[in-house]
Amino acid sequence: MNAISKDLPAPGSAGSTLQALNQWVVDVAALTRPDAIHWCDGSDAENAALVAKMEADGTLVRLNEQTHPQSWLHRSHPDDVARVEHLTLVCTPEREDAGPNNHWMAPAQAHAKIDALFDGCMRGRTMYVIPYCMGPIDSPLSRCGVEVTDSPYVVANMRIMTRMGAPALARIEREGSFVKGLHSIGELDPERRFIMHFPEELTIKSYGSGYGGNALLGKKCHALRIASHQARSEGWLAEHMLILGLEDPQGKTHYIAAAFPSACGKTNLAMLIPPEGYREAGWKIWTIGDDICWMRPGADGRLYAINPEAGFFGVAPGTSRKSNPNALASIQSHTIFTNVGVTADNQPWWEGIGDDRQPVTDWRGEPYDAAKGPAAHPNSRFTVSAKRCPSYSDKAEDAQGVPISAIVFGGRRASLVPLVFEARDWTHGVLVGAAMGSETTAAATGAVGVMRRDPMAMKPFCGYNFADYFAHWLSFDQPGAQLPKVFHVNWFRKGDDGKFLWPGFGDNLRVLEWMIRRVDGSAEGVETPIGVLPQAGEIDLEGVALAPGARDMLLGFDREGWRAEFEALGAYLAEYGPRMPEALRAEQQRIAEQ
Ligand code: GDP
Ligand code: PGA
Ligand code: MN
Ligand code: MN
Repeated sequence: MNAISKDLPAPGSAGSTLQALNQWVVDVAALTRPDAIHWCDGSDAENAALVAKMEADGTLVRLNEQTHPQSWLHRSHPDDVARVEHLTLVCTPEREDAGPNNHWMAPAQAHAKIDALFDGCMRGRTMYVIPYCMGPIDSPLSRCGVEVTDSPYVVANMRIMTRMGAPALARIEREGSFVKGLHSIGELDPERRFIMHFPEELTIKSYGSGYGGNALLGKKCHALRIASHQARSEGWLAEHMLILGLEDPQGKTHYIAAAFPSACGKTNLAMLIPPEGYREAGWKIWTIGDDICWMRPGADGRLYAINPEAGFFGVAPGTSRKSNPNALASIQSHTIFTNVGVTADNQPWWEGIGDDRQPVTDWRGEPYDAAKGPAAHPNSRFTVSAKRCPSYSDKAEDAQGVPISAIVFGGRRASLVPLVFEARDWTHGVLVGAAMGSETTAAATGAVGVMRRDPMAMKPFCGYNFADYFAHWLSFDQPGAQLPKVFHVNWFRKGDDGKFLWPGFGDNLRVLEWMIRRVDGSAEGVETPIGVLPQAGEIDLEGVALAPGARDMLLGFDREGWRAEFEALGAYLAEYGPRMPEALRAEQQRIAEQ
């Protein structure tokens, strides 16, 4: 390891030629009082040393080296297993700028509150300085940050999830600016936990949690909350979207970006393997990203997208050879598992893994007892490099990004919402995104299965007022723009028996195919007040086993149900007052009156 020292570095003498970075590190160290400071270079040797240290102190448990080479299990504190939205704050000078969609605190008060927690919190610990780049190192769309943390687990995860270390530091020194992220696991006490964002200051302060979305600051905090704020002023979009390439039998690839709330199918769709028949015909899905998408208009007027991340932080439960073979192949080695169970021979295990191995230990490290709940926490995760995924596309490393043909919104909706429909135009598409609702999942603390509004799957992640955010989306509709078509999907419609009506997973390709045919103009669809639905026969259902009546429920339009839905949407938009763009309210009213 390089540059570990007991003393605080003098300004200018530390790990960077950038004075502003050194000074910030010095200031942070003066506040947090670490025993040592380590500037991360991202090398293999550094990682090996960190992993060895974590194995020695029990932070990581090595898994079966024969079946899962170079893979580890981390058990988090049992009270620290998901994002904490009620403790996540956006601290803009004006409360209105954060909007009713965010928890807010005045910046001065917020700094004072969290700095009191940081005071001396790294005594006895090493402070790691992690320079990282979100997006390909050479892309003009990429942005850099530096995370300072006292958690080696965070370092190991950031190394997988971002382009971390020397090349990122070189870019930061060239550009002279970076997002500052200060993180400490603190005491892992839920009563002493905050995730704070200061968009105007390009600053994040996170205390008291080691969980992914709260602690890997490049991900949700930087690449969504801070970036969405930056994107608004710079004319681009930072979205909670997967990006995939859909290659047709002629070899033509369309790129699709899709926003689903956490634990609603992004990773699965991004890695989809086409169903029988499609596969043989030559259809193929290429993975660009599974969680975050940054996009901006190119010279030709199309939106070009990059995945700012370098790895996947995927939901483990439900991942099987059947549901997501690409994910399973990705996590055979070099993977960090968090809060999964283990088998007698020390292999990782979770509910829905789809083979006959059995867990003996649960995610808390206790003997597995089905009566005490699942072996793997419902929000247990794997962290793995995107390069390990068999479907990972070369285009994901392309500095220019990929042109987006279609944007898809979707959520968990047990009733009403059909399998797929298409927005009439961009403004309608923005309304479709704004109208999104979904049942809550285990990705955030709190009740599961409760319907809530989650516009564009950004409720937990938009770093500013949703009314301004919708206005920003609307602003892309300009002369010369070649905007993607906008669709809405619902893989989670349930029948009266409570079972999913649609098989989902690989069969979702049938729906993507219809979208691409709409883009190319070879599917007609049928007009309804909510948009264009597939005509009978336009979605190939050959070989799909559907329950009686399922087809009509999946592909039908329920006028009365939608009337109530649109009334509720009108009330929701009104909550934002006059700040809500008039065009969006007019669109809502136009449809409500049909
Ligand atoms: P993400 O958090 O949005 O990336 O969601 P994931 O792709 O990890 O999926 C979250 C959960 O939803 C997992 O338990 C999946 O098995 C499940 N899931 C994903 N896609 C589908 C689908 O098409 N149909 C159904 N019924 N479940 C799905
Ligand atoms: P997810 O990402 O969208 O894959 O669940 C993590 C999260 O949202 O916390
Ligand atoms: Mn996410
Ligand atoms: Mn995911």
